[in-house]
Amino acid sequence: MSELLCIDDLTVVPAADERRRLVDGVSMTLQAGRTTCIVGESGSGKSLTALSVMGLLPPTLRRISGSIRFQGLELTGLTNAQMCDVRGKRIGMIFQEPMTSLNPVLAVGFQVGESLTAHLGLKGDALKRRVAELLERVGIPPERAGSYPDELSGGQRQRVMIAMAIACEPAMLIADEPTTALDVTVQAQILALLAELKSRMNMGMLFITHDFGVVADIADDVVVMFRGQIVESGPVDAVLNRPQHPYTQALLDCVPDAEGRKPLKPIDYAWLNEAMA
Ligand SMILES: Nc1ncnc2c1ncn2[C@@H]1O[C@H](COP(=O)(O)OP(=O)(O)OP(=O)(O)O)[C@@H](O)[C@H]1O
Ligand SMILES: [Mg+2]
Repeated sequence: MSELLCIDDLTVVPAADERRRLVDGVSMTLQAGRTTCIVGESGSGKSLTALSVMGLLPPTLRRISGSIRFQGLELTGLTNAQMCDVRGKRIGMIFQEPMTSLNPVLAVGFQVGESLTAHLGLKGDALKRRVAELLERVGIPPERAGSYPDELSGGQRQRVMIAMAIACEPAMLIADEPTTALDVTVQAQILALLAELKSRMNMGMLFITHDFGVVADIADDVVVMFRGQIVESGPVDAVLNRPQHPYTQALLDCVPDAEGRKPLKPIDYAWLNEAMA
């Protein structure tokens, strides 16, 4: 197996208050053809970890330590221009909210084509053909290429985002809660599509979610984050069925069972703080 991504000791803080560690010493690796799910409650640092890999941290935040190697290339030392060459071409990203990530005044076919022109120099008929192919691959009729984002359903917009993210056949896909806003049927279709693309293109996938049903469905490996730190990681079966860390156990205790019979247990933070002390 070839190592695609290696994050080592990543720490991110607000520029104005360097003592607040929003991401705190995070290390993880991802292999080609595998999916790692990052789980953890809201505010645990999942998105900031993903944005750090993409070189898209907001300017008010600062990475104070850490190395991020992708296909052997150290990303943290790259200039913005060099990073633009990696982003979109070698690493694709699907953002959580497709309506705010798509440009409302541009036809979706044009938006799918933009990175093909920028990174691969495709134009004219070759570009049109490739855009049609990509739309078809994500289950959107190619004749919808001229539609604007607001003329598509939420699920279709998310599919357009996926088409954009995989346009240049990146080696790695980062998906930040790509199905949270969708109903369960569309979610299942999108997950099946991502799994198929992953195996067909041997992509590595970093998938952020707080839905353990999704984790059970698509993860090979799981990383559990809490207050900016990784508290547990390992193969999906071990983490879901034999969680070692009190936080993972507490998280799993608040997942409803299929029949809805299990009493839901809110996380007891006082107990957790003690268990982690
Ligand atoms: N631009 C910012 N400036 C200051 N703090 C920020 C900024 N962006 C995020 N944070 C803080 O960093 C922490 C981690 O945020 P992050 O967005 O990574 O959480 P998350 O795990 O993705 O949560 P969610 O599940 O809600 O998306 C949070 O406490 C958040 O308030
Ligand atoms: Mg987030």
